[in-house]
Amino acid sequence: MDHYIHYSNCWEDTQILLKALNIKNDGKYLSILSAGDNTFSILLHKPSSVVGIDLNPTQIALTELKKNCIQKLEYEETIEFLGIKSSQKRILIFNKIKDFLSNESREFFTNNTHLIEKGIIHTGKFEKYFHFFRKYILKLFLNPNKIDNFMNNKQMREEFFYKKVQSPLGKMLFKVFFSNQIMGLLGRNRKFFKYASQNLAKEILNRIEAGLIFVETSNNPYLEYILKGNFVKNLPHYLQETNFYKLKQILNEHPEKLQIHKSTLMEILNNKNNIKFDGFNLSDVFEYMDKQEYTEHLQKIKQISNPKARIVYWNMLVDRNDQIEGIKTLEKLSNELFSNNQSFFYKKLLIQEVI
Ligand SMILES: C[S@@+](CC[C@H](N)C(=O)[O-])C[C@H]1O[C@@H](n2cnc3c(N)ncnc32)[C@H](O)[C@@H]1O
Repeated sequence: MDHYIHYSNCWEDTQILLKALNIKNDGKYLSILSAGDNTFSILLHKPSSVVGIDLNPTQIALTELKKNCIQKLEYEETIEFLGIKSSQKRILIFNKIKDFLSNESREFFTNNTHLIEKGIIHTGKFEKYFHFFRKYILKLFLNPNKIDNFMNNKQMREEFFYKKVQSPLGKMLFKVFFSNQIMGLLGRNRKFFKYASQNLAKEILNRIEAGLIFVETSNNPYLEYILKGNFVKNLPHYLQETNFYKLKQILNEHPEKLQIHKSTLMEILNNKNNIKFDGFNLSDVFEYMDKQEYTEHLQKIKQISNPKARIVYWNMLVDRNDQIEGIKTLEKLSNELFSNNQSFFYKKLLIQEVI
């Protein structure tokens, strides 16, 4: 098993995903898990089932852990256990739920109790990269005591971006910190850059501008996490109290509605069990494969889809935006939803529909 968690939260905008998928009450959905958050949010829309997959066993372990918190713990305890509120009791809480995990996931956490003690949502490689950014870079440009003002005050954000980040020192530091090399070392697996040709730092600067200036920020959980090092006023969708209790009910009354599998997307697409899906949440997995593999995946997706099934995925650094016969891109809807993207690392949202 991999010895670390890559992502301990999902970094694709949940509200956009939910609108893009247009979830049907009796529909079946396939979802890349990553940290599980957006898969839980899909389940909240009461489809008949969601199959959550990830090729990485640590992401599976993390999703199982969160799922058991939702099923077995009360809200306050979950918030404390996951790391949103401080706690000295996380190991005690873990002991209450560990027997419900699969053997592999339990073994991972019992061998890595420091992750539990820290608060699991702060332990991903990607999250640690943001903590490093906040501690050593952001502080030079933004007073940590003024973050709430910053999130509510556009003029302050404009000054921050156009005067401080765009100053020679700002540009230099942001370029180094968000370079492919540093991000590969500290934040993202280096092999994820295999097909990326662009300069990451330049792209990220454009997207920081969009995320700070062109999109609503006061209620942005992704921005809040990056700036404050935690979710404080803006919790991820699945962790908002009413959603948490709805999920608890769904997962306890109909546990079969969420299936969690360690699997590559291709393995699932090749599975001959005759399930037809109504929608796919695919994160940006097509960036990690060449163009031919990408279109082969789309062909297979078409074969296991009901008419009008939605395929939703993102481009971060690599262009993966082909249309194949039988699948059309919903260009207008994609652009419309993308213009409100609060998780600003991506350059494009693709919403495609099986004809
Ligand atoms: C695609 S990554 C996205 C993270 C972020 N957007 C980035 O690019 O750094 C999200 C999850 O997808 C999983 N993943 C990547 N390719 C996959 C595949 N072909 N099949 C199943 N899971 C995959 C990874 O293990 C990870 O947990």
